[in-house]
Amino acid sequence: MGNHLILANWKSNKSVIEALGWLKMLNISETNLENKEVIVCPSFTALQEVSKFVAENSLPVKIGTQDVSPFKEGSYTGEINAIQIKEFAKYVLIGHSERRENFHEDDNVLANKVSIAVSSGVIPIYCVSDVGMKIPSEVKIVAYEPLSAIGTGNSDTPEDANSVAKAIKDANANITSVLYGGSVTPENVANFTKMENIDGVLVGKASLDASDFSKIVQNA
Ligand code: PGA
Repeated sequence: MGNHLILANWKSNKSVIEALGWLKMLNISETNLENKEVIVCPSFTALQEVSKFVAENSLPVKIGTQDVSPFKEGSYTGEINAIQIKEFAKYVLIGHSERRENFHEDDNVLANKVSIAVSSGVIPIYCVSDVGMKIPSEVKIVAYEPLSAIGTGNSDTPEDANSVAKAIKDANANITSVLYGGSVTPENVANFTKMENIDGVLVGKASLDASDFSKIVQNA
Protein backbone atom coordinates (compact mmCIF):
# COMPACT_ATOMS: atom_id res chain seq x y z
CA MET A 1 0.00 0.00 0.00
CA GLY A 2 1.40 3.43 -0.93
CA ASN A 3 0.94 6.84 0.60
CA HIS A 4 -2.43 8.11 1.68
CA LEU A 5 -3.66 10.64 -0.88
CA ILE A 6 -5.33 13.81 0.42
CA LEU A 7 -7.03 15.68 -2.43
CA ALA A 8 -8.43 19.19 -2.54
CA ASN A 9 -11.12 19.34 -5.23
CA TRP A 10 -11.91 23.03 -5.61
CA LYS A 11 -14.61 22.34 -8.22
CA SER A 12 -15.70 25.49 -10.09
CA ASN A 13 -14.28 27.92 -7.54
CA LYS A 14 -11.38 30.37 -7.12
CA SER A 15 -9.83 33.04 -9.30
CA VAL A 16 -6.07 32.89 -9.92
CA ILE A 17 -5.50 35.40 -7.11
CA GLU A 18 -7.65 33.35 -4.72
CA ALA A 19 -5.86 30.16 -5.69
CA LEU A 20 -2.44 31.71 -5.01
CA GLY A 21 -3.72 33.17 -1.74
CA TRP A 22 -4.80 29.69 -0.68
CA LEU A 23 -1.35 28.25 -1.47
CA LYS A 24 0.28 31.01 0.60
CA MET A 25 -1.97 30.16 3.56
CA LEU A 26 -1.47 26.40 3.32
CA ASN A 27 0.14 25.26 6.54
CA ILE A 28 1.65 21.86 6.00
CA SER A 29 5.19 20.79 6.61
CA GLU A 30 7.14 17.66 5.80
CA THR A 31 6.50 16.44 9.35
CA ASN A 32 2.75 16.38 8.71
CA LEU A 33 3.32 14.47 5.52
CA GLU A 34 4.77 11.16 6.50
CA ASN A 35 3.05 8.61 4.27
CA LYS A 36 0.79 11.29 2.79
CA GLU A 37 0.64 12.92 -0.61
CA VAL A 38 -1.29 16.17 -0.94
CA ILE A 39 -2.93 16.90 -4.29
CA VAL A 40 -4.62 20.15 -5.30
CA CYS A 41 -7.11 20.17 -8.19
CA PRO A 42 -7.69 23.76 -9.37
CA SER A 43 -9.77 24.99 -12.29
CA PHE A 44 -7.99 25.00 -15.65
CA THR A 45 -7.75 28.79 -15.56
CA ALA A 46 -5.58 28.63 -12.43
CA LEU A 47 -3.62 25.53 -13.37
CA GLN A 48 -0.52 27.18 -14.79
CA GLU A 49 -0.12 29.74 -12.01
CA VAL A 50 -0.74 27.14 -9.30
CA SER A 51 1.83 24.84 -10.87
CA LYS A 52 4.39 27.66 -11.11
CA PHE A 53 3.83 28.74 -7.51
CA VAL A 54 4.18 25.18 -6.22
CA ALA A 55 7.45 24.69 -8.14
CA GLU A 56 8.97 28.05 -7.22
CA ASN A 57 8.17 27.62 -3.54
CA SER A 58 8.96 23.90 -3.40
CA LEU A 59 5.57 23.23 -1.79
CA PRO A 60 4.99 19.56 -0.92
CA VAL A 61 1.92 19.47 -3.15
CA LYS A 62 1.13 17.62 -6.37
CA ILE A 63 -1.34 18.90 -8.94
CA GLY A 64 -4.40 17.28 -10.42
CA THR A 65 -7.10 18.48 -12.79
CA GLN A 66 -10.84 17.96 -12.38
CA ASP A 67 -11.45 16.66 -15.89
CA VAL A 68 -9.83 15.75 -19.20
CA SER A 69 -11.03 15.58 -22.79
CA PRO A 70 -12.12 12.13 -24.01
CA PHE A 71 -10.29 12.97 -27.26
CA LYS A 72 -6.68 13.47 -28.22
CA GLU A 73 -5.48 16.87 -29.43
CA GLY A 74 -7.26 18.19 -32.48
CA SER A 75 -10.49 19.84 -33.56
CA TYR A 76 -12.44 19.60 -30.30
CA THR A 77 -13.40 23.17 -29.47
CA GLY A 78 -13.33 23.94 -25.79
CA GLU A 79 -11.62 20.75 -24.63
CA ILE A 80 -8.38 20.43 -22.66
CA ASN A 81 -6.56 17.25 -23.66
CA ALA A 82 -4.38 14.88 -21.64
CA ILE A 83 -1.10 16.00 -23.25
CA GLN A 84 -1.89 19.59 -22.25
CA ILE A 85 -2.73 18.44 -18.73
CA LYS A 86 0.49 16.45 -18.47
CA GLU A 87 2.44 19.73 -18.74
CA PHE A 88 1.17 20.71 -15.29
CA ALA A 89 -0.52 17.84 -13.50
CA LYS A 90 0.27 14.35 -12.25
CA TYR A 91 -3.34 13.30 -11.65
CA VAL A 92 -6.81 13.78 -13.15
CA LEU A 93 -10.22 13.22 -11.58
CA ILE A 94 -12.47 11.25 -13.92
CA GLY A 95 -16.11 10.36 -13.45
CA HIS A 96 -17.04 12.70 -10.63
CA SER A 97 -20.77 12.39 -9.97
CA GLU A 98 -21.24 16.08 -10.81
CA ARG A 99 -19.87 15.40 -14.30
CA ARG A 100 -21.94 12.25 -14.72
CA GLU A 101 -25.10 14.10 -13.69
CA ASN A 102 -24.67 17.62 -15.10
CA PHE A 103 -22.69 16.77 -18.23
CA HIS A 104 -24.19 13.34 -18.95
CA GLU A 105 -20.86 11.55 -19.00
CA ASP A 106 -21.46 7.82 -19.41
CA ASP A 107 -19.26 4.74 -19.01
CA ASN A 108 -18.02 4.92 -22.63
CA VAL A 109 -16.93 8.54 -22.43
CA LEU A 110 -15.32 7.91 -19.06
CA ALA A 111 -13.46 4.85 -20.36
CA ASN A 112 -12.06 6.99 -23.22
CA LYS A 113 -10.94 9.61 -20.74
CA VAL A 114 -9.16 6.98 -18.67
CA SER A 115 -7.39 5.45 -21.69
CA ILE A 116 -6.21 8.78 -22.98
CA ALA A 117 -5.04 9.94 -19.55
CA VAL A 118 -3.09 6.72 -18.95
CA SER A 119 -1.50 6.70 -22.40
CA SER A 120 -0.44 10.33 -21.87
CA GLY A 121 1.12 9.59 -18.49
CA VAL A 122 -1.52 11.25 -16.31
CA ILE A 123 -2.83 9.11 -13.43
CA PRO A 124 -6.64 8.86 -13.29
CA ILE A 125 -8.49 8.98 -9.99
CA TYR A 126 -11.79 7.40 -10.90
CA CYS A 127 -14.88 8.40 -8.93
CA VAL A 128 -17.76 6.02 -8.24
CA SER A 129 -20.79 6.47 -6.02
CA ASP A 130 -21.56 2.84 -5.35
CA VAL A 131 -19.89 -0.49 -5.33
CA GLY A 132 -21.56 -1.86 -8.45
CA MET A 133 -20.35 0.82 -10.87
CA LYS A 134 -18.17 -0.12 -13.80
CA ILE A 135 -14.49 0.74 -13.44
CA PRO A 136 -12.18 0.71 -16.49
CA SER A 137 -9.42 -1.88 -16.17
CA GLU A 138 -6.55 0.68 -16.41
CA VAL A 139 -7.73 2.41 -13.23
CA LYS A 140 -5.57 1.91 -10.13
CA ILE A 141 -6.98 4.62 -7.84
CA VAL A 142 -10.69 4.95 -7.10
CA ALA A 143 -12.57 7.53 -5.04
CA TYR A 144 -15.75 6.20 -3.45
CA GLU A 145 -18.19 9.08 -2.97
CA PRO A 146 -21.77 8.18 -2.02
CA LEU A 147 -24.23 10.71 -3.49
CA SER A 148 -25.92 11.24 -0.14
CA ALA A 149 -22.61 12.43 1.32
CA ILE A 150 -21.39 14.90 -1.31
CA GLY A 151 -21.80 18.48 -0.15
CA THR A 152 -24.48 17.55 2.37
CA GLY A 153 -22.62 17.46 5.67
CA ASN A 154 -23.79 13.85 6.07
CA SER A 155 -20.67 11.79 5.57
CA ASP A 156 -20.87 8.03 5.22
CA THR A 157 -19.94 6.00 8.27
CA PRO A 158 -16.27 4.99 8.26
CA GLU A 159 -17.33 1.36 8.64
CA ASP A 160 -19.55 1.44 5.57
CA ALA A 161 -16.94 3.32 3.52
CA ASN A 162 -14.34 0.78 4.57
CA SER A 163 -16.49 -2.18 3.56
CA VAL A 164 -17.28 -0.60 0.18
CA ALA A 165 -13.56 0.13 -0.33
CA LYS A 166 -12.78 -3.50 0.42
CA ALA A 167 -15.50 -4.72 -1.95
CA ILE A 168 -14.14 -2.47 -4.73
CA LYS A 169 -10.63 -3.86 -4.24
CA ASP A 170 -11.89 -7.44 -4.06
CA ALA A 171 -13.81 -7.03 -7.33
CA ASN A 172 -11.01 -5.23 -9.22
CA ALA A 173 -7.57 -6.79 -8.92
CA ASN A 174 -5.77 -3.78 -10.45
CA ILE A 175 -6.97 -1.29 -7.87
CA THR A 176 -4.30 -0.35 -5.37
CA SER A 177 -6.02 2.53 -3.55
CA VAL A 178 -9.56 3.53 -2.66
CA LEU A 179 -10.17 7.02 -1.32
CA TYR A 180 -13.30 8.17 0.50
CA GLY A 181 -15.07 11.41 -0.46
CA GLY A 182 -18.20 13.16 0.84
CA SER A 183 -18.37 15.78 3.60
CA VAL A 184 -14.86 15.12 4.90
CA THR A 185 -13.89 17.66 7.57
CA PRO A 186 -10.92 18.29 9.89
CA GLU A 187 -13.00 16.63 12.62
CA ASN A 188 -13.95 13.41 10.83
CA VAL A 189 -11.01 12.78 8.47
CA ALA A 190 -9.05 10.52 10.81
CA ASN A 191 -12.08 8.25 11.27
CA PHE A 192 -11.80 7.44 7.58
CA THR A 193 -8.04 7.39 7.07
CA LYS A 194 -7.52 5.02 9.97
CA MET A 195 -9.68 2.35 8.30
CA GLU A 196 -7.76 -0.52 6.81
CA ASN A 197 -9.10 -0.26 3.26
CA ILE A 198 -9.29 3.53 2.92
CA ASP A 199 -6.18 5.02 1.34
CA GLY A 200 -6.98 8.72 1.49
CA VAL A 201 -9.72 11.29 1.05
CA LEU A 202 -11.20 13.52 -1.65
CA VAL A 203 -12.28 16.81 -0.10
CA GLY A 204 -14.65 19.30 -1.73
CA LYS A 205 -16.16 22.07 0.37
CA ALA A 206 -13.70 21.86 3.27
CA SER A 207 -10.80 22.17 0.83
CA LEU A 208 -11.79 25.69 -0.20
CA ASP A 209 -10.45 27.13 3.04
CA ALA A 210 -6.67 26.73 3.33
CA SER A 211 -6.75 26.52 7.10
CA ASP A 212 -9.45 23.81 7.16
CA PHE A 213 -7.63 21.85 4.48
CA SER A 214 -4.31 22.17 6.34
CA LYS A 215 -6.04 20.71 9.41
CA ILE A 216 -7.41 17.87 7.31
CA VAL A 217 -3.88 17.08 6.12
CA GLN A 218 -2.53 17.27 9.66
CA ASN A 219 -5.31 15.10 11.12
CA ALA A 220 -5.45 12.53 8.32
P1 PGA B 1 -17.69 17.56 -0.39
O1 PGA B 1 -17.34 17.14 -1.89
O2 PGA B 1 -16.41 17.36 0.42
O3 PGA B 1 -18.07 18.99 -0.49
O4 PGA B 1 -18.77 16.67 0.09
C1 PGA B 1 -16.59 16.00 -2.17
C2 PGA B 1 -16.50 15.83 -3.66
O5 PGA B 1 -17.49 16.05 -4.36
O6 PGA B 1 -15.43 15.46 -4.20
